[in-house]
Amino acid sequence: MARPTIVAWDGPLGATVTGVDLEVGLAPDIAALVVQALAVHRVVTIADQRPSDAAYARFGRLWGDPIEFFNPRDRDTAYPEVIRISNAVSTPERLRDGAMHWHQDSSYEAVPAAVTMLSAVEAPDGRNETMFADLTAAYDALPVAQQEHLCTLRVVHDRRGCSPELMFAEERRGAATRDEPVPTVTHPLVVRHPRTGRLALYGISGTPVGIEGMEQHAAIELLVGLKRHALQHQFRQTATAEVGTVLIWDNLAVMHCATATEYSDEDGHRRIIRRISTKRGTDE
Ligand SMILES: [Fe+2]
Repeated sequence: MARPTIVAWDGPLGATVTGVDLEVGLAPDIAALVVQALAVHRVVTIADQRPSDAAYARFGRLWGDPIEFFNPRDRDTAYPEVIRISNAVSTPERLRDGAMHWHQDSSYEAVPAAVTMLSAVEAPDGRNETMFADLTAAYDALPVAQQEHLCTLRVVHDRRGCSPELMFAEERRGAATRDEPVPTVTHPLVVRHPRTGRLALYGISGTPVGIEGMEQHAAIELLVGLKRHALQHQFRQTATAEVGTVLIWDNLAVMHCATATEYSDEDGHRRIIRRISTKRGTDE
């Protein structure tokens, strides 16, 4: 098989990979190139792909152990790691636009998502944008003294969503999908990427509710400031999970925010996305 082509996007992050076929599978050296491309570029699209569920699941396992979701309602494939997300009109109001807030996937879990990928089975043209913010570059841009301080801190995360002060105008709702209290988890505020060794901010949006050992008002003020910092134009990028494209991002290097969904069952407006996430600890 010819070697893939990797072309970096204009902007702070992202690259497009062409010249691979996920249906056929990737030779080990080609797979290593694709994995390295994500480590370097943090968000990657692979063009011209319509993998079967089997091929997609096999590709997903390249990145690690699949994550186990607590809500199996969309798990209707033969492969438990392949989650179907749709814009069906029957979607309950409380679950609509559930990803339309800045977050890193499963940050409320002790072992959160490391890599997430989307593959569209059906999607309206020109939609399905996901916004990204580069938390590696955002960390690098901070003063050294602040970096050193942040490296000593651990953030408390709650599955029910972040403190309300941390919701910004462009966000629709937090991560809340359950009402009953569940135990909180903590993660370092700064994580070291397992492949690149680079440091990045982690968990400053989505599910944070405080910082261990820090007075609440000061903790939220710090998190709001870091979120504002990370959402500056120079750290942001937008990507599209259109049919024929596999979109992959590195949750240990970027946070993301879905854009508004139009809920429809009509031809040309339906959206069926297959998602896979793999997991990795933040303390490794
Ligand atoms: Fe997400």
